[in-house]
Amino acid sequence: MKQELKKEIICVVGARPNFTKIAPIMAAILAHGKNIKPYLLHTGQHYDEAMKASFFEQLGIPEPNIDLGVGSGSHAVQTADVMKKFEPVLDERKPAAVLVVGDVNSTIACALVAVKKNIPVIHVESGLRSYDRAMPEEINRILTDQISDLLFTTEKSALDNLMREGIEKDRVVFVGNVMIDTLFKNIENAVPMAQTLATLKDAEKILNKPFGLITMHRPSNVDDKTTLTSLIDTLSELSSQLPLVFPVHPRTKGQIAEFQLMGKIEKSNIILLPPLGYLHLLGFMKNAKMVLTDSGGIQEETTALGIPCITLRENTERPITVTEGTNTIVGSDPVKIKAAFDQIMTDGGNVGRKPEYWDGHAAERIVKYLDDWLQ
Ligand code: UD1
Repeated sequence: MKQELKKEIICVVGARPNFTKIAPIMAAILAHGKNIKPYLLHTGQHYDEAMKASFFEQLGIPEPNIDLGVGSGSHAVQTADVMKKFEPVLDERKPAAVLVVGDVNSTIACALVAVKKNIPVIHVESGLRSYDRAMPEEINRILTDQISDLLFTTEKSALDNLMREGIEKDRVVFVGNVMIDTLFKNIENAVPMAQTLATLKDAEKILNKPFGLITMHRPSNVDDKTTLTSLIDTLSELSSQLPLVFPVHPRTKGQIAEFQLMGKIEKSNIILLPPLGYLHLLGFMKNAKMVLTDSGGIQEETTALGIPCITLRENTERPITVTEGTNTIVGSDPVKIKAAFDQIMTDGGNVGRKPEYWDGHAAERIVKYLDDWLQ
């Protein structure tokens, strides 16, 4: 009987970085939600086995109640498709609220549809700002925060950003980082590197030896020929000092082929892998001497694990990873990349400490708050 009185929250996921954020929220609602129940909606923005299915399985995310099957497209097409397909679901389910995470196109698309139907929007990972409006995610963050009723933040600097944009303080709640909940829960279950590399002839180059990990997929790094060529040249050069493992995102794979950069990579000590599942990537991350990345999430994960991180971007929306963590921002300038690399090779780089509330319990705080908020 009590079950039926619970209010439904539609929890939205779309792309790879959303899955690690929704996993602990779903688990916490199912375990502790007194007045709320989840309805999991996948927009289908990411759909490949490596980009979607393995994440659901490895993170124990329940099968989505619905998959909108939107797929790839330009920003306008992808965002519009999510909106068109999300609206009838809202009409049918009439949820008490819609919960969105992160900053991908699915996040803003679903938030926008919900707010126009007067359905409360809850945004997890609010208030992060790179102040770089050329980044599609920055636009998604600003707009989603503006139209959200309840904004959960991962670090305290987020509140200052939100207040500068006119958002009332009482809509903002600092709960910590749900992605770090997922990290701590799964770190012991990481797939051993030897297993992932089993069929690879280059395995002996890195097994039981120091190595670095590269991840790179931002349009600003991979869509421009001059920038991507320079990055591959720099990373190839560095790989002679430290072998570099590089699981390649589908976008990056396409651009490497388009700009004919495979020859350079084959001559280097860079070891290419297909996109990896969460537990597979974790197996590499936790053993890496350093990580070179343009991902937002990996900047946070390396800080939580105390592993040096070189960020191949001009800015970060996650400043706490620099002020308190292990992160160094270098952009795509070869001189800066090499200097940060040398620093880590020489003295191990920034030691850092774990930020407040990155403690594995952020999702529980969210659910406790929501239980009262939706009364
Ligand atoms: C999206 C997010 C980005 C996030 C990234 C993580 C936006 C604006 N960007 O970027 O913030 O860091 O996900 O991966 O939402 N593709 C496949 N298989 C898939 C999905 C995509 O092959 O399952 C290919 C398609 O060719 C597609 C391209 O990857 O055109 C880009 O996918 P898309 O979802 O548009 O953006 P991402 O670059 O993945």
